Amino acid sequence: MITIIADQSEHKLSILVVDDEPASMRALCDTLEYEGYHTYGYTSGADALAAMRERQFDLLLADLQMPGTNGIDLMKSAQLVDPSLVAVIMTGHGALDTAVAAMKAGALDYIQKPIKLASALPVLERALAVRQLRIEKKKLEDNVRERTEELKIANRELEAFSYSVSHDLRAPLRAVSTFSQALLGEHSANLTDEGKRLLQNVNAGAAHMDRLITDLLRLSQLNRQPLHKQPVRFAEMVRRIIDGMTHERGGRNIEFLIAEFPTWQVDQGLIQQVFVNLLSNAIKFTRERAQARIEVGYRMDGTTLVCFVKDNGAGFNMKYMNKLFGVFQRLHSAEQFEGTGVGLSIVRRIVERHGGKVWVDGEQDVGATFYFSLPDSPQ
Ligand SMILES: Nc1ncnc2c1ncn2[C@@H]1O[C@H](COP(=O)(O)OP(=O)(O)OP(=O)(O)O)[C@@H](O)[C@H]1O
Ligand SMILES: [Mg+2]
Repeated sequence: MITIIADQSEHKLSILVVDDEPASMRALCDTLEYEGYHTYGYTSGADALAAMRERQFDLLLADLQMPGTNGIDLMKSAQLVDPSLVAVIMTGHGALDTAVAAMKAGALDYIQKPIKLASALPVLERALAVRQLRIEKKKLEDNVRERTEELKIANRELEAFSYSVSHDLRAPLRAVSTFSQALLGEHSANLTDEGKRLLQNVNAGAAHMDRLITDLLRLSQLNRQPLHKQPVRFAEMVRRIIDGMTHERGGRNIEFLIAEFPTWQVDQGLIQQVFVNLLSNAIKFTRERAQARIEVGYRMDGTTLVCFVKDNGAGFNMKYMNKLFGVFQRLHSAEQFEGTGVGLSIVRRIVERHGGKVWVDGEQDVGATFYFSLPDSPQ
């Protein structure tokens, strides 16, 4: 089947004319028809509304004072039937206050009676242009809504997929590590030193992969769990985290500076993970400094809390800053600084779930500052 879509310029715009005086309604319709519009005239609001349920109109041109109905009520009922309809009201001469009331109630413009074509036509043209814009806007909004829905579904599917894949990868991996350990234990007498060394490599590889899978599972679970926000004292939380990181600090002398943060509404468990990841990075990447210094501070940006963790460690080249927050992206070798490259992607996801952003500032061999923002969350 071939569908011919009429050229917009040739498409006649339709005007619903409502005036209780049959003669003036007829005269107005005839004049507008002559100007190239399709007109549909009614002398009662009820009939006009009934017509609107049958077909679409581009513009409602209604008399303000009619017995039984007034133009404003008619316009409101009409816009319930078609929210992108535009309405122009006809008022009696000198009835400026009623015209203002009509515009406050949603009329786009008004025309004074008796109608002068030269001044009325530009008003109608402008109103019809607004109608086109409203239709376009609605189309765009519908598109965005549709795409968002599609993305949500795709996202959910992807999460479910990564969860089940990670989960299923575990079993064969366990077999690799159990059997290689059994070989190294019970059968080591039958192995040469080189054989043992190779098996140890197999085992270390399996352990590394197990960590990757654990991290992936944690990442895919982040989006599922709902946020439980409560007032949190960040400084206390940060001190507690640092006290618990004895293994990471390894007895090093690190100077910590912790600001007195304002109490903020967040999901405590998740924001704790943010600080754990940023602090463990700061501690790790300052390892080669004789005097490591780590600052945990904040500033207010309007009503948004901007937190930062700053260190004087290995730093990085800002050229690669966009990579840092991606999954499994690392800028340092595993020999120099161990890790799987998941920490910062967890940080980003948690901050974004709180409606905030993450960014970074760094310089090779000088240090790095990681920032994240948390918008105002009323208590
Ligand atoms: N404080 C920092 N100073 C310098 N580079 C950093 C710092 N924090 C992160 N990076 C760089 O960003 C990369 C990604 O960090 P991320 O925390 O995601 O992974 P990771 O620490 O390597 O491993 P994981 O956190 O999963 O154990 C790091 O490998 C490192 O190259
Ligand atoms: Mg890390």
